[in-house]
Amino acid sequence: MVKLFGPETNMAADMADNTGRKRILTGIRPTGRLHIGHYVGALENWVRLQHGYDAYFLIADYQALGDHIDDIQLIRESVLQVAIDWLSVGLDPEESTFVIQSYVPEHAELTMLLSFITPLGMLQRNPTLKAETEQLRPEQLNVGFFNYPMSQVADILLPRADLVPVGEDQAPHIEMTREIARKFNRLFARENPVFLEPGTLIGRIPRLSGTDGQAKMSKSRGNAIELGDDEETVRKKVMSMFTDPTRLRATDPGHVEGNPVFEYHDAFNPDTAEVDEFKERYRAGTVGDVDVKKALIVAMNNFLDPIRQKRAYYEDHMSEVEEALMEGTRRARVTAAETMKAVRDAMQINTYTSTWE
Ligand code: TRP
Repeated sequence: MVKLFGPETNMAADMADNTGRKRILTGIRPTGRLHIGHYVGALENWVRLQHGYDAYFLIADYQALGDHIDDIQLIRESVLQVAIDWLSVGLDPEESTFVIQSYVPEHAELTMLLSFITPLGMLQRNPTLKAETEQLRPEQLNVGFFNYPMSQVADILLPRADLVPVGEDQAPHIEMTREIARKFNRLFARENPVFLEPGTLIGRIPRLSGTDGQAKMSKSRGNAIELGDDEETVRKKVMSMFTDPTRLRATDPGHVEGNPVFEYHDAFNPDTAEVDEFKERYRAGTVGDVDVKKALIVAMNNFLDPIRQKRAYYEDHMSEVEEALMEGTRRARVTAAETMKAVRDAMQINTYTSTWE
């Protein structure tokens, strides 16, 4: 299921690439390897969209500094790991543009300029940011972290994206992007709008539970199945999964809803007849957790096998990974420079003399 919010079409037409495709931009913070929650919530959608759109995929290493300033080594390693994950699930650098944020200084520049038209209250009210800051101790909450939705607005506006495919939790940031784009145009570019108001596109499964039954899968909570996990690791993780806590014996009627084992079956097992039969027998108390889990292990490994094979290839061909990143980043810098020129012209900033470009 794909949900679309915001304007589906806008003044983007003139900014579409030379094949007339509309542009999408989306990103990920490089703070570890990607997992199956990223896949169903976002990546799967991105792979599909890259063919119809001029697609920008951003590795947001500046944004990652917000809560990883004391672990820059992890960010460094994760930039290449995320790129490998992307390539392994089928993002194609020939079709799309991979970008490393910190190699495009305009991201920082636009963040700074836009911050002057952004009321503090807009960040204070942002529900995703609110939930995240509440998890941090006061001394962990730096200004850069608090400002990350602002920098995300700049990420999206810099390539003048029409559409942002993301997980559900990111929707408030895209809403904020629309507000800022509108405000910038109203204040500085009434005649000739610089920015578009991008739409939000949410993936098939907005949120996947963790293996422990917690509402969200995340590496830091230790409840994730990673795209790079080997067969044995997947087996162990699935066997130790949380199921229906009210069910003590295999002969007790069990609950399928809210049971992460069935949630994963629905997401990853293409044999829907098998899944339906398991659900029926589980509700009737005629199948045990172990059998349902064993079938899930098979389905998960079938799903992950081709991804693992591609990962192994790219781990052996790191120069292709680096080339994909640098080639895309080069393209993104051209677009970024064009947008920043339009921004400066509109604001009449940094345009005082004619001799120094
Ligand atoms: N905040 C996103 C995440 O948590 C990453 C991100 C950075 C992003 N810049 C973006 C997503 C721009 C969409 C658009 O992974």
